[in-house]
Formats: sequence, structure tokens, C-alpha cells
Amino acid sequence: MPLTESGRPIKHALRAAQKEIEAHADATLPSEDGLHEAMRYALTGGKMLRGFLVLESTRLHGINPNAAREAALAIECIHAYSLVHDDLPCMDDDDLRRGQPTVHRKWDEAMAVLAGDALQSFAFERLARAEVGPNALILIRDLAVAAGKDGMVQGQMLDIAAESAERPLGLDQITRLQNRKTGCLIAWSATAGAVLAGADSAPLRRYAEALGLAFQIADDILDVEGDPAKVGKAVRKDAAAGKATFVSLLGLDAAKDRARELVNHACDALSSYGDEAETLKDTARFVIARDS
Ligand code: IPE
Ligand code: IPE
Ligand code: MG
Ligand code: MG
Ligand code: MG
Repeated sequence: MPLTESGRPIKHALRAAQKEIEAHADATLPSEDGLHEAMRYALTGGKMLRGFLVLESTRLHGINPNAAREAALAIECIHAYSLVHDDLPCMDDDDLRRGQPTVHRKWDEAMAVLAGDALQSFAFERLARAEVGPNALILIRDLAVAAGKDGMVQGQMLDIAAESAERPLGLDQITRLQNRKTGCLIAWSATAGAVLAGADSAPLRRYAEALGLAFQIADDILDVEGDPAKVGKAVRKDAAAGKATFVSLLGLDAAKDRARELVNHACDALSSYGDEAETLKDTARFVIARDS
């Protein structure tokens, strides 16, 4: 198993977070009917990077684990919903996700639309629970912004629009697109601990902005170079679909250099946390070294 630069097995830490969040999903989302089953299916099998970032940032800020768990489940619900809709025929039209048929393939398109919708509202239901504490409302508002018309949904709209743009997007436009499509949910996750604690979230926000861009560059590189058996989704699709990515603009080598620079920026942003932030730094290094 690959170790991170500091020698910590980050994959173990991610797996522990996955187990914790999946157990919480089990407890809160019983498989009562097809809709619940599709929601659970969509929540399963991913890296749970965003939930892990919530658990780490809340740990750094001494937040009660019950509140942390709700926030981690909430962001994984939003992320899962975004993927279910991203895979629909009217969006990226994908049949495989996390090594399994996409929700609209396993069920049908109506179920995929509805399971995505229900995952989104379930996220807010969990965040509104009393155990999340006095700053829950700020977290709820921030998630609505991060996921919505000025956040992830806008990024997805820009991503689809770029496919048929007359001229290729420039660096600033691609950065804006990717910040919204991917960065906003990652930033919400990494700042959740500071927000819940009422602390300064600026260092974690700077970390997350760099991390989000590096993460999406790594995803775009995996589309070109990844092993489909490991990646668990179709690869070699972005160029043919006309996706605007750092790889399409800069080429593979420059995109890899950019991702490494961003990881350095992400780690530098955490200096005020000292050794306490080593896991978050390891996470940034993992994000560009991953094979899935
Ligand atoms: C895939 O995200 C979608 C992007 C924003 C690039 P992940 O790579 O985190 O997907 P899972 O959750 O691990 O499957
Ligand atoms: C998806 O980006 C981003 C969101 C769902 C918000 P991609 O379309 O690149 O993700 P994959 O490659 O299908 O996982
Ligand atoms: Mg997409
Ligand atoms: Mg896609
Ligand atoms: Mg992709």
C-alpha cells in the first residue's frame, strides 16, 4: 500500500472514515423501499474524501463526534447526489461508477433523478439536527451556497456549456469552472470544523481552494492515464466530449506540475495548525498520488 511522504497510511484513515460514515448511513437510512435502496447504493463505495475532511477539520477544532458525523454524512449525500445526476444521459452519460452500474442503469432515469433529489434534502435534514450545535445554521447556509447556483450546480452548468463552446476556455475560466464544480464542496468540508467551532476558517479555506483544484486535476489526469479497473468508472472520455480541463489546456506534464504546486500551497496554508494538521497535509499529497 502506498504511504504518504510522512509515512502515514492515509488509506487506513480514509477507510476508518468510510466505515464510520457508512455505519451512520445504515443507522439513519433504512432500506425501506427502492428509493431508500437507490440512495444507499449511491452513497456506497466511494473514497469519502469529503466526509473524511469534515471528520479531520472537526477533530482539529474539538467538535463533538456526533455533530461531526452528521456533517460528514451530509456532505457525502450531497456529493453522491451530484454524481448520480452527473452520470445521467443528459449530463456525462456514464454507465459505471465505483465499479458498479450507475443508478440510472441499475434502476432507471426517474429513480436516479429522485434518489439525487432525496439525497440532497436528506443532507439538510441531518445538518438541522440538534446535535450539530449552535452554529448549524451557518453550516446549512454555507452548504446551500456551496452546492447551489453559485457553487457546484453552477460549475456543472459551466462544464456542460464548455463542451459546445465556440472557443476553448482559458486558464481563468477553467479555474472558475473547477472551483465551483469540485472546489466548493471540498471547501465546505475542510472548513466545517472551524465553522462549527466559531473559529477563523481562513487557513482551512486556503488549504481547500488549492486542494479542490489539485483534486480535479488528478481526476482529469486519471481520465487520460487511469486504469479503468482501478478507477471504477469509464476513462478516456473527457477529450472526446470536449471537456475543459487543465489537461486539455496545458497538457499532461504541465497539469501534473500545477497539481504538485497546488498541493504545496495547500500544505503551506496549514502552518498555523502545526503538527496537528499532518493528516490534512497527507490528504493533499494523497489526492494527486491516488489511482482511483
Ligand atoms: C468524483 O469524485 C467526482 C469529482 C468531483 C471529480 P471522487 O473521486 O471523490 O468520487 P468517489 O466519491 O471517490 O467515488
Ligand atoms: C463531476 O466531475 C463533478 C460533480 C459531480 C460535481 P466529473 O464529471 O469529472 O466526475 P467523474 O469523472 O464523472 O467522476
Ligand atoms: Mg461531469
Ligand atoms: Mg462525470
Ligand atoms: Mg472526471
